[in-house]
Amino acid sequence: MIQLNDRYFEVFIKEAELQEEVSSLANKINSDYHGKDVLFLAVLNGSFMFASDLVKQINGNCEISFVKVSSYSGTISSGRVDELIGLTSSVENRHVIVLEDIVDSGLTIDKIVSLLKADNPLSVKVCTLLFKPEAFKGKQHPEYIGFSIPNSFVVGYGLDYDEKGRNLKEIYQLKEV
Ligand code: IMP
Ligand code: MG
Repeated sequence: MIQLNDRYFEVFIKEAELQEEVSSLANKINSDYHGKDVLFLAVLNGSFMFASDLVKQINGNCEISFVKVSSYSGTISSGRVDELIGLTSSVENRHVIVLEDIVDSGLTIDKIVSLLKADNPLSVKVCTLLFKPEAFKGKQHPEYIGFSIPNSFVVGYGLDYDEKGRNLKEIYQLKEV
């Protein structure tokens, strides 16, 4: 068990399980996009560790860029999403894969995908490490999902609780008291 600020968290997904699932996602992408160039857009801050491990296992020519939307603080999703920032080149005629740490309500990813589609990409798909089916109310269902998890708060492997815990190698779940 670990403590981050005022809350306690327990190990939920171990490092080896995470790495195995990341490899499996990379293998699926390698086979689905065989012979195609992919532009990966990783959503900051939470997806930095997932994106880094995943793209190391991509075989074809690819590019990676980082985009950012509104921040998320505390343990309840605010549902508030700002503009997409950090996108420096056009996605027109590109195969785009958006990399997310977690899709919760799905509002963030809906906003990102609709902004990207306005720029006429060849395709846009979403690859998320974690997915909370019970919380999801979005239009854009992720095509690639690492783990479907219960509707509870998780940290580690890039994900934060009030900016703490991003450095952890494993995913931890909030311990309800
Ligand atoms: P959305 O509700 O799908 O729009 O989720 C937006 C963002 O909230 C995600 O990209 C995460 O950064 C953050 N988030 C959602 N659930 C969790 C969680 O359990 N732990 C940490 N961050 C979360
Ligand atoms: Mg995020």
